[in-house]
Amino acid sequence: MQDKCTTVLVYTREAMSRSNCYPYGYRRLGSDGMEVVDDSWRVRLPSLLWIPVFVFGALLYFVDIFEIEFLSLHPTIESIKDFTYDIHKGFAINTPGCKIPEMDPFDPSVQKFIEPPTPVECNKGVPALFEANLTSIYITRSSLPAYNVSDINDLRCCYWVIQRIEPKKNQYDVFMSKSSMCKYINTSAEIKDEFIKVQCFLDNATTYVDTFSFVPIKNSTKSKVIRSKPLNVLVVGLDAVSRLNLHRQMPDTLKYLQQLEAVEMLGYNKVGDNTFPNLIPVLTGLFEDELIKSCWPTTKSFFDNCTFLWNHFKSKGFVTAYGEDSSWMGLFNYQRHGFQKQATDYAYNYFNRYAETHIGNAHKMNVNQCEGARMVYKDLLEYIKKFVVTMNNNSLPFFGFFWGASLSHDYLNQPKLGDPVYLKFFQELQEEGHLNNTALVLMSDHGIRWGGIRQTYQGRMEERLPFVFVVLPTWYRNNYDRAYSNLKRNARRLTTPFDLHETLYDLLDPYGLSGENLKTANKSRGISFFRDITKYRTCEDAGIASHWCACQQSKELDKNSSVVIDVATFAVNYINLELQGYAQCANLTLLDILNARLMSHSGDIEGLNNIQDYMITIKTIPGEAIFEVTVRYFEIDHKYAVIGTISRLNLYGKQSACITDFHLKLYCFCKNFL
Ligand SMILES: *[C@@H]1O[C@H](CO)[C@@H](O)[C@H](O)[C@H]1NC(C)=O
Ligand SMILES: *[C@@H]1O[C@H](CO)[C@@H](O)[C@H](O)[C@H]1NC(C)=O
Ligand SMILES: *[C@@H]1O[C@H](CO)[C@@H](O)[C@H](O)[C@H]1NC(C)=O
Ligand SMILES: *[C@@H]1O[C@H](CO)[C@@H](O)[C@H](O)[C@H]1NC(C)=O
Ligand SMILES: *[C@@H]1O[C@H](CO)[C@@H](O)[C@H](O)[C@H]1NC(C)=O
Ligand SMILES: *[C@@H]1O[C@H](CO)[C@@H](O)[C@H](O)[C@H]1NC(C)=O
Ligand SMILES: *[C@@H]1O[C@H](CO)[C@@H](O)[C@H](O)[C@H]1NC(C)=O
Ligand SMILES: *[C@@H]1O[C@H](CO)[C@@H](O)[C@H](O)[C@H]1NC(C)=O
Ligand SMILES: *[C@@H]1O[C@H](CO)[C@@H](O)[C@H](O)[C@H]1NC(C)=O
Ligand SMILES: *[C@@H]1O[C@H](CO)[C@@H](O)[C@H](O)[C@H]1NC(C)=O
Ligand SMILES: *[C@@H]1O[C@H](CO)[C@@H](O)[C@H](O)[C@H]1NC(C)=O
Repeated sequence: MQDKCTTVLVYTREAMSRSNCYPYGYRRLGSDGMEVVDDSWRVRLPSLLWIPVFVFGALLYFVDIFEIEFLSLHPTIESIKDFTYDIHKGFAINTPGCKIPEMDPFDPSVQKFIEPPTPVECNKGVPALFEANLTSIYITRSSLPAYNVSDINDLRCCYWVIQRIEPKKNQYDVFMSKSSMCKYINTSAEIKDEFIKVQCFLDNATTYVDTFSFVPIKNSTKSKVIRSKPLNVLVVGLDAVSRLNLHRQMPDTLKYLQQLEAVEMLGYNKVGDNTFPNLIPVLTGLFEDELIKSCWPTTKSFFDNCTFLWNHFKSKGFVTAYGEDSSWMGLFNYQRHGFQKQATDYAYNYFNRYAETHIGNAHKMNVNQCEGARMVYKDLLEYIKKFVVTMNNNSLPFFGFFWGASLSHDYLNQPKLGDPVYLKFFQELQEEGHLNNTALVLMSDHGIRWGGIRQTYQGRMEERLPFVFVVLPTWYRNNYDRAYSNLKRNARRLTTPFDLHETLYDLLDPYGLSGENLKTANKSRGISFFRDITKYRTCEDAGIASHWCACQQSKELDKNSSVVIDVATFAVNYINLELQGYAQCANLTLLDILNARLMSHSGDIEGLNNIQDYMITIKTIPGEAIFEVTVRYFEIDHKYAVIGTISRLNLYGKQSACITDFHLKLYCFCKNFL
């Protein structure tokens, strides 16, 4: 049933075995967008044609062996381009340990899911009455008619100061206080506070409510002393955008990043299902279960005892900031208790929570797209700008980690709306000199996890391959050329959130990244982008579960075959076992098998020679849930096991309202809907 090329491949150092199985650029999609495996071409090939193939193979063999030496002798950009061109044709990643096909963002199989984004109207078209700059708020006279103000003297406006309150044990980290006094505002006011709520009255009735955030210098940040010239770190995240979706939706931003010589990590592979299991590795270097063991014993615990990247930067004298929008479902807050003590010097997420609660609107699926008359994601970007400008103007070194979900969390095409806005954001940062001393990382956590595109082969691959760009100042690239050429080479290697963690950690000491210091253990789970990531690295080496591994080649199977039916039945039973003890959830039965593939691992994986991984997509009832499950078959003892997490490809919506466990929500169909 398996052909030679789709069984577990044992790679020798010979490039031949590679070209034998995966002719460069050869990949075909069937009408359903699924990859079609067709090896009949091999038989038809006249034998003379093999000669140039052998010669080419031998050439690759030498390039293979001497690659590292070659790079360190001639670490110029041109030479890297020259010899990588042919190797990479048709592949995003083409190493002995991992092969990921290069896919077209506008491939016919995904074309039908690409639509213009839906325009957003904030506040039903009523404009804001106040605007803010770095330090002040001021009235916008042109908005007065929209608020029925004919004489500005009839209008009374004032502002309250909003502050976070520490939660007590077992409480959620959601409390904010409002000052008792509302300070009078005439037409403008300089604001020295961090967060404010503005309210205006006309004829004693409230006619306008708004919220604004600022970045005042705090006592805690005033006395930062740092000896050498620091390299600031700014991470800007955009939730649920695959690398290819960034290419599709944000071409202008992409072009600008390329102008900034951003390095795009083509083989950045996610390690968990959704945001939490992919960002916790970035921020802590740990998997979720390791975090639980080390510092976060229950979902009711605060995260205070865990060590995040910002803790390291803080102890080095950096000012730290964390901020996210859609913070009701925030990283530390969605069914979790957050922090007791504020984790970073600045934390925009608390402001966002207050703003969305009080003036959130244009609600769509999971997010408020607007707070008052402003789009939420733009407000986050403006806050980031304020933070960066303030820190630079006061010569304060900073580490900022920001995460935007409101633009991109739920829809494939909405990020397009943000293209001009992100472009302008990066342009301003660059043109005003804010990137001179800053390492910038633009990243996502995964691609879109549900909807039509997710049920195509390409959509499945994209879900596992989010974008990551690294932008370094020119002087740093020039002075630390070894670290920079490693970064560029690793753009074509298999990489993970654990590596990004090591990369950001390396930036604690950016001037140490040269010579012997760059040596690293080949087999460690996380390896900094600035160091040598071996091309022999497999998903297993990198800590990527088979279910999430984008390196695997696969072969479509007959859905009616007995092994596929066995596997599907096993998967449904497995889900039912998980739900055991939750009497409110219905027992699921298999309705249909939508897709079945046999996966083959790239690279030689020790001890995994007698295993077969099946990836199946099934539909169950009640609820018509669609699941994607990787089931491993152990030939020796004829046993099956589910590998990694089960993906839910359509939304569960209210179906699982009767259960709070966020893992089981994916599976549970509440009996009360029967
Ligand atoms: C911000 O706006 C206030 C009020 O209009 C103005 O006085 C101030 O100069 C502005 N500041 C900046 C940095 O633009
Ligand atoms: C302005 O007046 C119109 C007509 O009375 C009313 O419908 C509208 O709600 C008012 N707008 C505001 C912002 O109060
Ligand atoms: C508000 O400011 C204007 C000038 O901008 C001034 O004429 C007016 O008297 C002020 N009103 C109050 C109540 O302070
Ligand atoms: C506003 O309220 C105050 C106190 O309740 C009252 O004296 C005043 O007449 C009210 N003004 C208007 C325009 O309703
Ligand atoms: C900051 O320091 C000033 C002067 O030392 C003090 O008056 C103020 O209360 C401090 N603010 C905070 C929030 O601790
Ligand atoms: C942190 O750890 C200490 C010591 O183990 C413990 O007493 C405390 O409750 C923990 N704090 C949190 C927020 O979990
Ligand atoms: C920068 O800070 C100085 C004082 O620290 C201030 O005078 C200046 O206006 C600030 N510039 C900006 C653009 O905020
Ligand atoms: C940033 O670098 C550019 C080019 O080297 C220089 O012209 C500019 O003054 C710098 N800006 C700052 C704020 O350091
Ligand atoms: C990493 O692997 C390379 C090639 O196999 C080897 O030459 C090198 O010594 C290894 N480095 C370490 C630190 O193990
Ligand atoms: C699978 O089996 C069903 C019923 O036994 C049949 O209708 C269907 O055509 C078969 N599909 C394939 C792909 O063989
Ligand atoms: C649940 O459904 C499976 C078939 O998928 C069946 O074997 C099992 O007995 C059912 N369990 C319960 C508790 O009804």
